[in-house]
Amino acid sequence: MNKIICSLNFMYSMERFATAIYRVQRGSFKEAKINEKMNYAVDNEWHHASNLKNRIIELNNTPSSFSFLFKIVGTLLGFLNRCSGKMFALKIDVVIEKRAVKDYSYFLRSLKLDDKTRLLMKGIIADEEQHINNWEESIEIIKGKTPGKLFTEKLPAEKGRSTGRAKNT
Ligand SMILES: [Fe+2]
Ligand SMILES: [Fe+2]
Repeated sequence: MNKIICSLNFMYSMERFATAIYRVQRGSFKEAKINEKMNYAVDNEWHHASNLKNRIIELNNTPSSFSFLFKIVGTLLGFLNRCSGKMFALKIDVVIEKRAVKDYSYFLRSLKLDDKTRLLMKGIIADEEQHINNWEESIEIIKGKTPGKLFTEKLPAEKGRSTGRAKNT
């Protein structure tokens, strides 16, 4: 399997991991704004996974059958986070999102990607950066502080944005 497909499969698995974590975590956030962002993140990460899976298939390869293991680990980590408190969970989420941005950026720099795959990854990076902002702002809410500008991100329903999807499909 070539490097590009390996990288796409790795990120596909990581997106399933992220989807599973947020799916479990969202129940612990009763704060309306955070809950809304958490629900949106589940959907957004699922779309990332789905789009990467579709791209792997379009490139005549098979999505990794081990990706379900990432989903299981994500679910377990999500439950562990719920037991450790909301603040800890959000801090872990920020670490995970930063890692995703780092990995996608590395693949963009180091791999000879076709335009469609490149566009897909760039769209996902933009979403992951927004997730970092959302969780950092959520930490401020949990702390009881009110940041100057809460939740600068507009959800797709608010501004008609389609996220993490290759625009030329
Ligand atoms: Fe993602
Ligand atoms: Fe994310």
